Amino acid sequence: MADLLKLSRRRLLAGSAAAAALSASGCAAPRGGQEADPTPPPVWPRLTVGADCARSVTVQWKRQGPGELVLRRADPQGPERRFSAPQRDAEAEGVIFPLHTVRIDGLEPGQDYEYRVEPDGSWFRFRTAESGRCRALVFADSQSSDRFKTWARVYRGALRHFPRPDFAANLGDLVDMGSRLSYWADWFEAVTPAIASVPEAPVMGNHECYRKNPGDRQFRPIMPKAYLEAFPVPENGEGDLERWYYAFDCGPVHFIVLNTQWLEAAAFRPRLYERMKLWFLEKGSKTNLPWRVVMMHKDILHYQRPGKPWKTRFSQTGRRLMPLFEQTGIDLVLTGHLHTYRRRGFVRNFRHAKDGPYYFVCGVSGNIRHNVEALHELDLYAAPRPETDNFMTLEADAGKLSVRCFLPDGRELDHALLERSSGRASG
Ligand SMILES: [Fe+2]
Ligand SMILES: [Fe+2]
Repeated sequence: MADLLKLSRRRLLAGSAAAAALSASGCAAPRGGQEADPTPPPVWPRLTVGADCARSVTVQWKRQGPGELVLRRADPQGPERRFSAPQRDAEAEGVIFPLHTVRIDGLEPGQDYEYRVEPDGSWFRFRTAESGRCRALVFADSQSSDRFKTWARVYRGALRHFPRPDFAANLGDLVDMGSRLSYWADWFEAVTPAIASVPEAPVMGNHECYRKNPGDRQFRPIMPKAYLEAFPVPENGEGDLERWYYAFDCGPVHFIVLNTQWLEAAAFRPRLYERMKLWFLEKGSKTNLPWRVVMMHKDILHYQRPGKPWKTRFSQTGRRLMPLFEQTGIDLVLTGHLHTYRRRGFVRNFRHAKDGPYYFVCGVSGNIRHNVEALHELDLYAAPRPETDNFMTLEADAGKLSVRCFLPDGRELDHALLERSSGRASG
């Protein structure tokens, strides 16, 4: 009974969150302009970015039985497209999840669409990205020990200040321990119902790859099944590394999502780094779009810990990947993992230089704070310490790429503007 009460209370919370977040996401869609039904729908669908935010999106939901999705243009209402979505039983931590996944393409840029899960789902609305523009929210490290209350506040606050983004990215460590399913349930509750209208672009972090058994003093690495099943990101054609890294387009920006967990995955995906490097050089980084942006979890730098010697100023991630970014003309690199916000500017050959990629480590959006005090010689700006949570926005057209950092109440902390001139970015 206690479990049932808890479940119904959580559903109610999700229902009231639905009402509160309608205006924030700007996208929930009571049919034909009617009042929203106060009863929570039987399923809460979730959006993941498609290969092109202007033309594609992926819908996933959890439910026993057959599945069908209905889609139509919202305004004016267009003819319906129907998608069959057979149930696929996914397994994580011994629990079976009856998932339905629909990859939608052939959409028109800059259009509102409505969809619902048959037979009795509510209508939800989303908007495709415009062809020549990109507007995105970026969060780092939402991992939490407060049942994701802080994360919910940051995420919903960000949507209030920056409504209707083309997608929301999380730069890894979404949860503190990837094996704990209750963390995932709370993470998704925090983003519900907005994630039914705002596609998610996830990045795998090291904490997605952790378990702690009773008696363990430290995390042990695991296959991040819960993460991999939760986010049907665009396919990369890499066999057993599907969903580990991927690429997608949004307006004038080509995003490449890399995976920095080759140490954690050594026992079960031993050639992760080598295979990803090849994919990145031959496929992932290739584009005709004006901007190339890398999103990945672990940072390029090491900071000195109090009372400890500074072994190396660049992490293995930085030493391995920074030369590849220079080789492929990456414009911007967004990282997480350190739970601190720093803007480093253009870096090439491990030094500030005008013709290298522009680097940020993007802060924290959960309640687990590392309070990094040290500065690095590459830091141009560090958030005031002790640090609070933050979120970032990215806006781009063919000539300009603007990155801003905000506190959850919408006050701006920092920004950078990259401009395209004679082929290279400057700022
Ligand atoms: Fe991390
Ligand atoms: Fe983290």
